[in-house]
Amino acid sequence: MQIISISSLKGGVGKTSVTLGLASAARAQGIPTLVVDMDPHADATTGLGVKQGQHTDDIGTLLERPRRISLADHVTPSGWPDLAPGAAEAGIPGNGKALDVVRGSSRTSLYERPTTRPRELRRLATLLESVTRYALVLIDCPPALNGVTRMAWAASTDVLLVAEPSLFSVAGTERTLRALDLFRSEYAQGVRTTGVVANRVRPASTEHQFRLGEMERMYGDRLLPVAIPEQSNWQQVQGAAWPIHAWPGETAAQSALLFEELLAALHRPQGRRSQRRH
Ligand SMILES: Nc1ncnc2c1ncn2[C@@H]1O[C@H](COP(=O)(O)OP(=O)(O)OP(=O)(O)O)[C@@H](O)[C@H]1O
Ligand SMILES: [Mg+2]
Repeated sequence: MQIISISSLKGGVGKTSVTLGLASAARAQGIPTLVVDMDPHADATTGLGVKQGQHTDDIGTLLERPRRISLADHVTPSGWPDLAPGAAEAGIPGNGKALDVVRGSSRTSLYERPTTRPRELRRLATLLESVTRYALVLIDCPPALNGVTRMAWAASTDVLLVAEPSLFSVAGTERTLRALDLFRSEYAQGVRTTGVVANRVRPASTEHQFRLGEMERMYGDRLLPVAIPEQSNWQQVQGAAWPIHAWPGETAAQSALLFEELLAALHRPQGRRSQRRH
């Protein structure tokens, strides 16, 4: 099972958007996927259209007693619509069967302290040990490097950092990479790869081109070959709680393709080992 944390020290750079884009791509390809919403704001849960009044426990509650829980009993199907009407009944992959969510909640903020206690850091890893039906787990992290993100990293096989091509975001990503390298050697040895994806790129902006060049120099082959452009309909798609793969129009289709490319750059089907070890 591949477990990818989507992180950044800086807020608002697109962690949740990238998580949702990857979830949409995985669903379209029929990859059984679980999204764990670790952000106390629970934006990914909202964006995945999870219905109110679920009888499952949220992640904040589950983390309180991870050893006594079977996580499979607390996943909720995403509320995203089918890619094509009637497709689920026809058994076409990627139509609602393959994408589940562990709901986020403000309770996770209880773990937002700078802890390094191994017992605390292992809580999410312990929870995830109890599920076997997924090939991919995507963890949406809050914009901080405290207990919640550390717990996510300690449970992960890969960490994806999201950065905007702006001065502050590039500097923040550099700090996050250093913090991750340090943390990894002590507490998160399971993390095999770390990559950086540029988001909200405006190809016509000279400042963005400059920053992208800087990112290439700073991060080397950690900078993933796929950059996500600034998209005008993004908020509309997220506001409707729809997957990008179901949204009509050419722009959405291009974004959908980009997220498939990003997923291909990250996803290792079971049995294939990573070539890159950073
Ligand atoms: N590529 C993009 N094009 C246009 N808008 C985008 C893009 N990526 C993100 N956004 C918008 O930017 C805002 C912040 O994005 P998002 O919530 O994904 O960031 P985040 O890093 O998860 O934020 P937080 O740190 O608060 O969790 C949202 O309104 C989102 O719709
Ligand atoms: Mg977010």
